[in-house]
Amino acid sequence: MLRKTVYLQNEADTIALGASLAKTLKPGMKIYLYGDLGSGKTTLVRAMLQAAGYEDNVKSPTYALAEHYTINLAGTPTELVHFDFFRLENPEEFMEAGFSEYFNDNTICIVEWPEKAVDVLPQADIEGIFLIIGEGRRAKFYGRTEIGAQAIGTLCVEFH
Ligand SMILES: Nc1ncnc2c1ncn2[C@@H]1O[C@H](COP(=O)(O)OP(=O)(O)OP(=O)(O)O)[C@@H](O)[C@H]1O
Ligand SMILES: [Mg+2]
Repeated sequence: MLRKTVYLQNEADTIALGASLAKTLKPGMKIYLYGDLGSGKTTLVRAMLQAAGYEDNVKSPTYALAEHYTINLAGTPTELVHFDFFRLENPEEFMEAGFSEYFNDNTICIVEWPEKAVDVLPQADIEGIFLIIGEGRRAKFYGRTEIGAQAIGTLCVEFH
């Protein structure tokens, strides 16, 4: 397990972190993002997608629960699903929507509000916890698997 704490003084810092995290993406990677409303989770995911070459609008999956993307990973088109479970009523809703099929060895899953689906989600590779501190944010990242720890190890945390 590897842990890194980063201080994000403004939105540009969160975007820079997202770009750095995007370089560590691997097929099948599962990234769970915790933290209060408005703490920067979607900002991070949007920055990751844009750094991975996605040029269209990146919407927050607040109402749809899931948004689907295809990104280019070392020349291979890779499915990425961005979830937001804030509005998930219960784990049954997760199962009925068929979301478990996306948590496989190929699809990258990034999840906001994973605590709402705690019993149905598999082990994360990376967990990030966002906290609002004054005008800025603090994010703590934990590598929970070997590939997650490797990714956190290479994460660039030098901002400013
Ligand atoms: N490091 C930062 N410092 C200050 N503001 C930030 C920072 N990062 C992001 N923000 C701002 O915080 C606001 C909310 O961000 P965002 O929508 O990403 O939050 P969220 O964690 O996804 O919230 P929710 O749980 O509601 O989905 C945005 O206006 C964004 O510009
Ligand atoms: Mg969000």
